[in-house]
Amino acid sequence: MKALAYLNKFLWKYRGRLFLGFLFILASNIIQAIMPSIVQDAVDQFKTFIEQYAAVESKEIFYQEKVLPFAGYIVALYIGLALLRAVFVFMMRQTIIIVSRLIEYDLKNEIYDQYQRLSLSFYKRNNTGDLMNRISEDVSKVRTYLGPGLMYPINLICLFTVTLIFMIDKSVELTLWTLVPLPIMSVLIYLVSSTMNKRSERVQHQQSRLTTFVQETFSGIRVIKAYNRQSESLNSFTEESNEYKKRSLRLVLINAFFAPIIMLLIGLSTIITIYVGGIKTIGNEISYGDIVQFVIYVNMLTWPFASIGWVTSIVQRAAASQQRINEFMNEQPEIVSGEKSIEQMNGKLEFRNVTFEYPNTKIEALNNINFCIEPGKTLAVIGKTGSGKSTIADLAARLYDPTEGKVLIDGVPLQKFELNSFRSHIGYVPQEVFLFSDTIANNISFGLENEHSLDTIRQAAINAHIDHNVMEFKDGYETIMGERGITLSGGQKQRISIARALIRQPELLILDDCLSAVDTETEEVILNRLKKLEKPTTTIISSHRISSIQHADEIIFLDSGKISERGTHEDLLKLKGAYYKLYLKQLAES
Ligand SMILES: Nc1ncnc2c1ncn2[C@@H]1O[C@H](COP(=O)(O)OP(=O)(O)OP(=O)(O)O)[C@@H](O)[C@H]1O
Ligand SMILES: [Mg+2]
Repeated sequence: MKALAYLNKFLWKYRGRLFLGFLFILASNIIQAIMPSIVQDAVDQFKTFIEQYAAVESKEIFYQEKVLPFAGYIVALYIGLALLRAVFVFMMRQTIIIVSRLIEYDLKNEIYDQYQRLSLSFYKRNNTGDLMNRISEDVSKVRTYLGPGLMYPINLICLFTVTLIFMIDKSVELTLWTLVPLPIMSVLIYLVSSTMNKRSERVQHQQSRLTTFVQETFSGIRVIKAYNRQSESLNSFTEESNEYKKRSLRLVLINAFFAPIIMLLIGLSTIITIYVGGIKTIGNEISYGDIVQFVIYVNMLTWPFASIGWVTSIVQRAAASQQRINEFMNEQPEIVSGEKSIEQMNGKLEFRNVTFEYPNTKIEALNNINFCIEPGKTLAVIGKTGSGKSTIADLAARLYDPTEGKVLIDGVPLQKFELNSFRSHIGYVPQEVFLFSDTIANNISFGLENEHSLDTIRQAAINAHIDHNVMEFKDGYETIMGERGITLSGGQKQRISIARALIRQPELLILDDCLSAVDTETEEVILNRLKKLEKPTTTIISSHRISSIQHADEIIFLDSGKISERGTHEDLLKLKGAYYKLYLKQLAES
């Protein structure tokens, strides 16, 4: 329950509306409690009319002058009150349920904002399904608590207090008898609804397994078809969806208990009321009308009492959900922004005794790396797969902080810089291309904050040697790319990703194996373009291919996270070490 305290700040924010909502609840319940006493009045009055009817002489006049006006008055009063109550109920939902939606909105935004603040390693630790659930499923459970979960209990307290005053005024003993079954009902409903919740959670869990499964099938459809796994895939799906069906049926079973329990207990209360009330009427303690009034009260109180059980389980679920949300909200980003903002970056990048260990796996990806790139120069990183090339790129972009040692720009450790300011000076092309399902133009201009023209976009595309391809498309730069740019070839995607980095005219350009899918000719064009950028750009480029990096000012050869050889292309060839062997091999291949 403590977890829900997190929401208090939102409740406080909307306190005005909530207070109004409370007033509406109170008003609607007072009216609701008055209405049965009108029925009571009517019943007793008509009983008197019936008794008088036999004795009066002019029956027509009696009917016209006494009965009809009274009936008219009662009907008008009852309908009038019912309408007034309807207005209050409407207003009550318009205030309280709306507050719950507003808080849902705030909470979602807050979670999304927190997601964006958290560091890369957080995303490596948690899977996408979890992240999605927090912001959709869990928030919606919390919302149920804020809406119905607040409204019904307040409603019950109001209604119960008001009706109790009316009932006790009539007969204390009858009131006690009438109320006996209601708490029993609350407990039973609680038991049923908590079982129901457990089962519906299991249904939901299976539902998300199904979704994940189907989603994976769609993304992996090429592999599935190529390996002829359609029927196996269908079998697994049938299995999963069979499980879903079983769980749903179990939920339906427990659901079916809900209504009968309520009806049974209303029936019980009604019978007790009529029996005890009947005895009291015979003893002339109360009137016929009073019994009717009590029966209506019993029916009126049923749903609110049933809702206690229901609300209890809603609150429990909301608390569990909020607990999960809080876990993420309390998480601190590991990459903490510094204070210093950068107006002018020269672009001298230095790794000083850098060692890096991945926090979750304890794999030491880099061991005592030292290098320094002067402004405008190019450093190349080459090495086998898994040797740590991408890790160097990630550290240079400050997606991670080194475990030991320092990464410095212009002699200042990256931690000292204001994060946004630092990142606005770099262009980073990750090894795995990611494109948004948007137009090509928007994908390229993604990192630009201010207004930009098509020419700017085209210039970047020309530098990435993709402009001529784009111009061949029917819609040119307005071509919408499918999910993750599925309509483009691997090499085209890589070049768009490069254009996205170049358009920012960064002082530091980080290219992580981003030419792997282009042919050597295209590669050469791009590398030549990079040399002729308007602004001197410090470049760090990693690759498997010697052709991509041979012109770099310095090349480091990585082996299991350590620098084993370093120098220019010529130096390394002379050394006749691992680099030289790789060179001969690639030469033979080409
Ligand atoms: N997120 C991660 N969590 C844990 N370990 C990781 C993570 N990413 C990489 N590693 C490990 O760190 C080491 C270096 O990985 P890195 O991705 O830097 O290699 P690479 O040289 O870029 O390889 P490739 O040429 O295949 O891209 C590898 O042993 C890898 O298993
Ligand atoms: Mg890599």
